[in-house]
Order: sequence, then structure tokens, then C-alpha cells
Amino acid sequence: MEPAPRLCYKFPMPKNSMIVMGLMSGTSADGIEVALAQISGASPRIKIRLIGHVSVDMDKAVRAEILRVAEGIKVSAGEISQLNFRLGEVFAEAALTACKKLRVPLRKLDLIGSHGQTIFHQGKAVPFLHEPTRSTLQIAEPAVIAARTGITTIGDFRVADMATGGQGAPLVPFADWILYSHPKISRASLNLGGIANITVMPAGAGATKVFAFDTGPANMLIDALVSHFTKGRKRFDRNAQIAMRGNCISSLLSELLQDPYLRLSPPKSSGREYFGRDFLAKLLAKGRTLRATPEDLVRTATAFTALSVVDALNRFVFPKTKIQEIIVSGGGTHNPVLMAQLEAALSPIKVMPSSQLGVPEDAKEALAFALIAYETWHRRPGNIPSATGARKPAILGKICYA
Ligand SMILES: Nc1ncnc2c1ncn2[C@@H]1O[C@H](COP(=O)(O)OP(=O)(O)O)[C@@H](O)[C@H]1O
Ligand SMILES: [Mg+2]
Repeated sequence: MEPAPRLCYKFPMPKNSMIVMGLMSGTSADGIEVALAQISGASPRIKIRLIGHVSVDMDKAVRAEILRVAEGIKVSAGEISQLNFRLGEVFAEAALTACKKLRVPLRKLDLIGSHGQTIFHQGKAVPFLHEPTRSTLQIAEPAVIAARTGITTIGDFRVADMATGGQGAPLVPFADWILYSHPKISRASLNLGGIANITVMPAGAGATKVFAFDTGPANMLIDALVSHFTKGRKRFDRNAQIAMRGNCISSLLSELLQDPYLRLSPPKSSGREYFGRDFLAKLLAKGRTLRATPEDLVRTATAFTALSVVDALNRFVFPKTKIQEIIVSGGGTHNPVLMAQLEAALSPIKVMPSSQLGVPEDAKEALAFALIAYETWHRRPGNIPSATGARKPAILGKICYA
């Protein structure tokens, strides 16, 4: 397999390269992904050498508090403030753990880019105090990370895009474009985290032709069902063991595929606000009416997840661009039922895990924020306006000097 054009393995890096760490926790809040990379050059000719990747599990009590806050349950400003600082410590600890595991002394790092933890995201304006308002909030205080590590840390990437009219998401398309865009092959990059996002990169296209959006849930519904039925003992359907024991309920699947989110035209972004607690409650109620077993519901949710991605491709991507390869990353790549259903529905398009192009499935998003931080450090934009809907390219993030 030919390596992605901008990922370099053995050839030497220019002297002015930087060692940058990316920190990321997604909507699943299952753990902090840490990617360490040596980066040089300037967009779009950036060279990246991935030094390593470490996943640090999120402490159970901390995760429970993140989900509580992110589910929109009434919390005080004090609790959000406390969680912001506590998560700053947790992220800093993850950075230190990763350095130890990768045997890279902390002092070798030039920069940290931390996405933080999204606890609220309203990409499209809704009325608030009589004015259409949108906002997004990522926490895990970067000043704490900078103080604990002694490394300059950039965080809070989404707000600058939103301030210039974008939805503040998705931001990963910048990295997809740098890593995967190809002169002759039209590609899409699909990340299966809590939510599923897709980036479309027509062959030979510049950044202005890249578009991206959230297709709907990825692991979020499956995780919520599993956690509900096991009373929190299991957090996710490891290797699809539960789904494999169930049958897909076709009437429920068809109903789920009628969800209005699927019909919304991109740019669109989604999160726990839509596919969280209320969505789960409705799904469980439907399951009770149909006398569905937990296994059947998990199987149906898995099928819905795969087919909502396929639906998005059919509706918004294939009519514009003939895609030859889909590169998949995120925790959902470890779910064999989800992957098999995607591959079957998308055949003959080549569906391949991102590790085939040199980026481990669980490292992609963390690497993306290392890359964006590197661009910010050089005062260059890191958003793709055609992906977020922003009026113009924006330099993303806030710098906390160590
Ligand atoms: N072995 C596995 N089998 C099935 N699902 C898995 C496995 N490993 C991870 N996952 C799924 O991936 C999710 C985490 O994916 P991740 O990409 O970290 O999402 P996020 O960016 O939202 O944190 C888990 O919550 C789980 O649903
Ligand atoms: Mg995760």
C-alpha cells in the first residue's frame, strides 16, 4: 500500500520541524487520545512523522460527570468551572503518561494542541435572549495543561471558526485534507467516534472543494443502549458481541432512517444534544412497544448507524463526487458488525481502516489537533470554510504560554 503523500516515515525531517502533541477526547468521553508527531512545512505541503499514539482511559467518575454536564442536565456555572480545571489536570496527566509510554522526554515537546472535551455544541443559531445565537464549549483548561507540562498549549479551537460564521465543526477535515487528499483518487474520510463525520476530498481538489459534515450517530446510540441494559456495567458493545446475538428489527430501522437530521443539508453538525438522552428514551420506548430484546435493539441501532452513514453518502456525496476510497478511523472501526454492514452497503467502493495509510484508527483526531496547533503557532488558518460554513479561513485556538 502506498503511504499517504504527506506522511513521511524514513526520510529526514527539515531542521525547523516541531514536536507537537495532540490531545483529544470525543463525545464518547471514553478516554484521552494522545498523538505525538514531528511536523514541518506549511499547509498544504506539511510533512508529518507520527512518533506514537497512546490512549488513556477516562476515570469512571470523571466520565460520569462529563456525560451529566453534556446531556444538558441542569448544572451550575460553578460545576462547569470546576470540571474545566479538573479536566485540565486529567489532560495534563494524560500528556505526561503518554511521554513516559513513548519514551520521549517532556522537554522535547515544542507545543501541545488540546481539543479538550466538548460539553455543549449548538452549531446552528437558535433563539436565545431574543437573538439567534450559537455557541460551543470545550473544556479542560489549557492554562492548567501548560502549567503542569511546562509546554505551551493551544486550546479552544472551535470558537474562532464559529465567530466567523462557521459551525465550529468539523475541524478534522483540515487534517484529512493534509493527510489523505490525492491527485488522482477521490476519497472520503469517515470517523466513527460518538458521532460519525465524513470529509469528502475530490481527486486533485484544493481545500475550497473539500466538504464535510456529521452524518449522525456513530457509537453514541450503541453505547447508550449497552450502558442502559447492563446498568452501566458495560460501556460499549465490545467486538459487537451483543449485536451479533440479536436480529435487526426492520420496521424500527426504517423508522429510524426517517429521522429529520438525516435529511438536513450540509453543513451540519451534531452531538449529544440530539442523539443523547432524549433520543435514547424514545428508542427504548419504541423497543418496549415492539417487545424487542436488548440484543435486537443493539443490532438495530448498529444497522441504523451504518445505514445513516450510507444514506448521507447517497444523498449528499455520490451525486456530486464519485468516491473510490473511504478511509475509516475512530473507535467504531473496532466494531465488526458496523464495519461489515458499511462495507457491504458501499461495495464496490474500497472501505479501508486509516492504519492502511499509516494513521492508527484511534490516533487520527488527536493528530488533527496537533496539526491545527502547529498551523496556529505559525499564524496560519486551520479551518476549512467549505466544511464548517465559516465566511473565511480563521486562525484557530488560544495560546497559553508555559
Ligand atoms: N473493541 C471494540 N468493539 C466495539 N466498539 C468499540 C471497540 N473499541 C472502541 N469501540 C467504540 O468506540 C467508541 C470510542 O470511539 P472514539 O473514536 O474514541 O470516539 P470519541 O471520539 O467520541 O471519543 C467506544 O465508546 C465504543 O463504542
Ligand atoms: Mg474517545
